Amino acid sequence: MNLACMNHPHENKAQYPWIFLLSSLGFIVLLKHTLSFLQWVHSTFLRPSKDLVKYGPWALVTGCTNGIGRALAFRLAQRGLNLVLVSRNHEKLKTVSHEIETNFLGIQTRIVAVDFSKDASSCIWSIEEAIRGLDIGVLINNVGITYPRACFFHEVEERVWREIVRVNVEGTARATRVVVPGMVQRRRGAVVSIGSGAATVVPSHPLFTSYAATKAFIDRLSRSLHVEYKLYGVDFLCQVPLYVATRMASKVASIEGESVYVPSPDKYARAAIDHIGYEPQCTPHWAHSLQWCFARSVPNRVLDAWRLSIGLKRREKNIKRTSP
Ligand SMILES: NC(=O)c1ccc[n+]([C@@H]2O[C@H](COP(=O)([O-])OP(=O)(O)OC[C@H]3O[C@@H](n4cnc5c(N)ncnc54)[C@H](OP(=O)(O)O)[C@@H]3O)[C@@H](O)[C@H]2O)c1
Repeated sequence: MNLACMNHPHENKAQYPWIFLLSSLGFIVLLKHTLSFLQWVHSTFLRPSKDLVKYGPWALVTGCTNGIGRALAFRLAQRGLNLVLVSRNHEKLKTVSHEIETNFLGIQTRIVAVDFSKDASSCIWSIEEAIRGLDIGVLINNVGITYPRACFFHEVEERVWREIVRVNVEGTARATRVVVPGMVQRRRGAVVSIGSGAATVVPSHPLFTSYAATKAFIDRLSRSLHVEYKLYGVDFLCQVPLYVATRMASKVASIEGESVYVPSPDKYARAAIDHIGYEPQCTPHWAHSLQWCFARSVPNRVLDAWRLSIGLKRREKNIKRTSP
């Protein structure tokens, strides 16, 4: 017992409202965090996934011959969707198509070889031709490229950043425009665009700036279209992966293989498919959402300094490797 309270009963009474207020606030904060945690457990591990065939019998996946896109194509086929496979290499597309059709009997595929870094309008014309008459229920805007190495903004060759903008920004926006009219007409559809933690989780992504900026475009495009097309029954979702063990992660971050915090493309895809049709923005894999939660609790200044030091180290390493 507090002796000071015994000596000054009036002072003690005056303190009660503060104690009550503070403990109520503490309770509200605790309740909020507990509810968020329970909601996360539910959406990550317990919530049933949607029947994707209800959106329509076909899905279109861009950048599907490697990494996340390839894994998503396999998962969609497993869920009973026929596939329009879009990527730049015809031979690789034929291989993926053959693997899908032999692994998932009854699933049909069509392949479209286009290079989004070239003339975007001719790519779109090829895709339009390939999907004519098909009921595309799901679009996965996965295709994305980044810098070959960490560099300052002024060091990036014009050709490189133009290609990044063409593939990440134009490729995503144009593929969306191709499928949305049909979805609006049928009053159903899902458009999933693959963003990046580089634009959404960390406050900056120095030395990969143009890449992060194109991913911010995708995030905002998807978020706004979600509101715009809700009226027509079309779901938009921006998925925000952090590192996934793919060729891209190996190139930019020297990640060779999966770990607890870096899922394989297949593990990522499994989680990604389960989130379609729910919230408009998410990071589907549990390990990524834990990292996002941690990043939220760190001041932006600290994250900026951390990302900058990583970018500078990678740039330095590359200069050493390439210098004679
Ligand atoms: N991996 C990560 O850690 C990570 C993290 C955050 C976000 N993301 C995003 O996730 C998406 C997939 O990344 P990923 O790591 O799976 O990449 P990836 O392993 O490099 O695969 C990229 C796919 O896109 C295709 N592609 C590349 N350039 C193309 C072009 N100009 N035209 C048509 N197709 C093209 C590739 O075809 P080829 O087989 O012919 O090369 C490949 O199928 C990207 O949007 C990326 O920004 C990845």
